[in-house]
Amino acid sequence: MMDLSLDQLPLAPHSGSVDIWIWQDHGIPFPDDCLLWLSDSEKAQIDHFKTGLRQREYLAGRIMIRSVLARYLDCQPGEVNLEIRPSGKPFVRQSKFDFNLSHSGSGYALAISRAGNVGVDIEWLNRKVDYFRLSSVFRSSEIEAWDAETPDLKRMHFFQRWTGKEAIFKACGDRALLFRDFEVKVPDMSPVVNFGEYPLPQNWWFQAFPYGDEYWVCLAVANPTAQIEFRTLEYNPPRS
Ligand SMILES: CC(C)(COP(=O)(O)OP(=O)(O)OC[C@H]1O[C@@H](n2cnc3c(N)ncnc32)[C@H](O)[C@@H]1OP(=O)(O)O)[C@@H](O)C(=O)NCCC(=O)NCCS
Repeated sequence: MMDLSLDQLPLAPHSGSVDIWIWQDHGIPFPDDCLLWLSDSEKAQIDHFKTGLRQREYLAGRIMIRSVLARYLDCQPGEVNLEIRPSGKPFVRQSKFDFNLSHSGSGYALAISRAGNVGVDIEWLNRKVDYFRLSSVFRSSEIEAWDAETPDLKRMHFFQRWTGKEAIFKACGDRALLFRDFEVKVPDMSPVVNFGEYPLPQNWWFQAFPYGDEYWVCLAVANPTAQIEFRTLEYNPPRS
């Protein structure tokens, strides 16, 4: 994994590439300055969360998005003008980038794309999986495929399918798309078959990879023709 500090990141990255920033939160407090970056609606959102854990996740995500995007947009983190689509997907109007954040356990992944709409999902591999509950969001063909597998393979294929679906859903950024509308085949993560009415592109660029022993990450870019150059970077949060 490449370990570039934010200062080393080129300011004018070329089109057609995707950067993914990965970080593990060890609970170190953020400098007070970072709180000044937040908009009023972000501060209100933090107050709205009932648990300290969810507040921390949201705050950490926003600090990560703002500090990384500021570098790409050549501005201060507090000047990054984040807006939210009706689906909930954050975006920056009139920027060359699409971006997407995911968190699970203490792992965070932030994808920045100059190749088309992007979605990312990171999953903590030690989390509990309730296959029975999830059967309502998978297609019967997917459930039949993993019912025939050994428990270890079933678990791994679950994470591959799940992160693939989340990544596609998040790239589309539209609530009209349902998980049951499409299928992610494993282990090659393709092709994606579209059964629903949502106009899902037929070809996706996928990158799925482990992060250490505990996380699985999937990145989806809704652009079948993009020539994608992919870089994984470690994020180092600001320190006081
Ligand atoms: C919104 C959703 C995509 C979030 O996914 P998640 O795995 O819970 O959480 P992740 O950590 O991967 O992503 C959360 C981040 O994605 C971004 N996000 C929120 N809504 C989004 C959307 N509709 N599209 C893309 N990104 C979105 C935000 O940055 C969010 O961070 P925040 O919660 O700190 O604001 C997911 O909850 C969802 O609605 N999925 C619907 C699909 C479905 O049928 N799921 C089955 C549920 S059993």
